[in-house]
Amino acid sequence: MIKTDDMNLKTSEEWVKHFRENLKQQRVNWELKPQPEPPIPSKIIESVKAWQLAESSDGSHLIYAVTKYAMRNGDLESINAMRWFIKEEQKHGRNLGRYLDLLEVPKSNFNLFDFAFKKARRFLQSMEIWTITVLIAELHAQAYYKSLYKATSCQLLRQICLDILKDEGHHIRFQFERIIHIISNRSSSSLRLTFAAYSLYFRLINWAFWKDHKFVFEAGGLCSQEYKSKMKKSFQRIMRRIFKFQSLGNEAVNLNLSQ
Ligand SMILES: [Fe+2]
Ligand SMILES: [Fe+2]
Repeated sequence: MIKTDDMNLKTSEEWVKHFRENLKQQRVNWELKPQPEPPIPSKIIESVKAWQLAESSDGSHLIYAVTKYAMRNGDLESINAMRWFIKEEQKHGRNLGRYLDLLEVPKSNFNLFDFAFKKARRFLQSMEIWTITVLIAELHAQAYYKSLYKATSCQLLRQICLDILKDEGHHIRFQFERIIHIISNRSSSSLRLTFAAYSLYFRLINWAFWKDHKFVFEAGGLCSQEYKSKMKKSFQRIMRRIFKFQSLGNEAVNLNLSQ
């Protein structure tokens, strides 16, 4: 069993307070204009359009899942916390959209992976599947915006990336804490199965992000091997933190990600 009392986790009320305060911060200087030279490669623009679309989701299916879960565990404020989290993601979508508008590039309303995810999420009713999906996506978002920052010399786009990165660090902690709550009552053997399933799922999502955004990762200095190794390490780090209060040792974490 994981002893959540020892872990200094934030309450849902504290998360609401955090998101509410953070949303008031204005860290992007919109007086800046996009730099026309050197032009941003069209593949990077296409990738930014895909993220803009994904970040703008209304989050209704996620709210449905968290509401069902909150009704069972009695933490009704967690619904509110998730609403604030979604608002912050939508802010990322708005900022990227504003940037595309300044470039006079039309925003996208279709992306294959986004389409596939929107179809799949109808079946994502479990809070656990939602949470691990978002947690893995957040880890990739962090790597993506770091790469995008390095791939461009446009100061405005760099500021947008830094602002998002500041938020994403908290998002990872937020989703990490949700997972801790969800799996806190599991036995050791059940946790081993849980971790094996998370690892498989991570590999699938990891592959999909590379397929869809490899140009940005490469432009930011990551080749395929470096990307895989970096993402594997960040996933292992978060899994070790999740499982460190349990008898599940490091070897279980390493085993599932060794190939
Ligand atoms: Fe985001
Ligand atoms: Fe996020």
